[in-house]
Amino acid sequence: MKVAEDYVQIFDTTLRDGEQSPGCTMNVEEKVLIAQQLEALGVDVIEAGFAAASPGDFESVQRVAGTVSNSVVLSLSRTREADIDKAIAAVEGAAKPGIHVFIATSDLHLEQKLGMSRQEVIDAAVWAVEHAKKHLDYVEFSAEDASRSDVDYLCQVFSEAIKAGACVCNVPDTTGYGVPAQIREMFRYLKENTEGGHDVIWSAHNHNDLGLAVANSLAAIEGGARQIECTINGIGERAGNTSMEEVVMGIETRRDYFNVHTGIVTEQIYPASQLLSKVIGVSIAPTKPIVGENAFAHEAGIHQDGVLKNATTYEIMKPERVGRLSNSIVLGKHSGRHAFAERLKALGIDLEAVNVADAFDRFKVLADKKKEIFDEDLFALVAEESDVPKRYELVGLDVDSSLDGTPRAKVTLLVDGQERSHEGGGDGIVDACYQAIKRVTGLDPKLERYQVKGITGGTDAIGEVTCFIRVGDVGVRGHGVHTDIIMASALSYVDALNRFEYRTPVVSGEAREVGP
Ligand code: KIV
Ligand code: ZN
Repeated sequence: MKVAEDYVQIFDTTLRDGEQSPGCTMNVEEKVLIAQQLEALGVDVIEAGFAAASPGDFESVQRVAGTVSNSVVLSLSRTREADIDKAIAAVEGAAKPGIHVFIATSDLHLEQKLGMSRQEVIDAAVWAVEHAKKHLDYVEFSAEDASRSDVDYLCQVFSEAIKAGACVCNVPDTTGYGVPAQIREMFRYLKENTEGGHDVIWSAHNHNDLGLAVANSLAAIEGGARQIECTINGIGERAGNTSMEEVVMGIETRRDYFNVHTGIVTEQIYPASQLLSKVIGVSIAPTKPIVGENAFAHEAGIHQDGVLKNATTYEIMKPERVGRLSNSIVLGKHSGRHAFAERLKALGIDLEAVNVADAFDRFKVLADKKKEIFDEDLFALVAEESDVPKRYELVGLDVDSSLDGTPRAKVTLLVDGQERSHEGGGDGIVDACYQAIKRVTGLDPKLERYQVKGITGGTDAIGEVTCFIRVGDVGVRGHGVHTDIIMASALSYVDALNRFEYRTPVVSGEAREVGP
């Protein structure tokens, strides 16, 4: 399989390598939402998960496979028969199914991790690719820890994998150890010295341990790679993966230098970045290229003067090109449903993927409290949507706080439709709310993470609270968005508890005791 010499395929692994990183886990619905956004972005390949990892992962791959129609959807798989069979079953419903088989090739991994000889690794790789190929045409093969492997041995492994049927050969820098010149040369060498090396797509998969993932990916393109594996916002194991927005805009902005292009709809980059950030509750550093808050902000007087005279003096990309609309004050309380939906569309939000009517109701409530609604507010409103059935609903919150007294909160929830309240104190006002919610629900989760973010400026700004709670083995995240930060905190906690209940549904007749 080949792509045009000047085309670079984008392989997105946000849902697999990205989701593997701490704090970035997503439930099935969230993965489907992200997959829809990836398709709107125009990514060529979506790695939807590692089907054999757990029944939840299998279901996620299956759901994404059934949702996406334009991109190839694949599952990661070790070279084991059971893994491959699960991966194949999970992508069965995809319009364009595929599989990604990997095994490590560095002597370090062979000796210390696998306990296999070089020949045994080749045999396992060949067997796995041949087995997968009986069911699927699209088979990618990866040599894990390739950048620390003997390059002539790599040529041998890839030659055999190609003979067995692999159409994409992926060369991961698993530990983020490579540097650009070395990666560029490695690709050149592999392409020239692997049998069949000119008939397949060479792919780069770089980790960011030394902050070089994007640079290494661009160097790989110079060396002949025509697929880049990356994630939205660069999330992933340890320091993350190649950041999609950076590598894509590197390619597109410097077409004059690299002489290649991608199929990415660049206007969808910012919406995708915002959506992921809201879904996983991980905020983006202000200085992050392309999608950070300051990425297009000019502070220095000389710069501002230059940009006003001609934007290209200090701007190498137009913000609109990556979906950042310059006119960001948009709607107010008199705006109607149609204007609301149009603005969501202009922001690149897929109207089929969100419940516009519900989002509009939330917008109206917000518009009553806040004069101006910014684009960031709209992203937050949409991300607040949850398909999770609501066992608990916050219907009342009274708080009392003073400098010298113990903060107190009275919380009223609907629990399975019945109103229940509790009033009590805490170490702070948020703690008092959370203690009261615990008493009402009868749950005692551990709060592992609590993050508050003011979405837009001003004292009437929306506050977004993300919390991560754990009940036994089950860790879930909750979101709350409100102009009152205490309300947002309570809403996020209640959302997390609903998500917990959704994962471990209460069996009728065994309902947990709830408080007063
Ligand atoms: O980093 C890595 O080596 C991987 C492989 C499984 C492709 O993620
Ligand atoms: Zn990886």
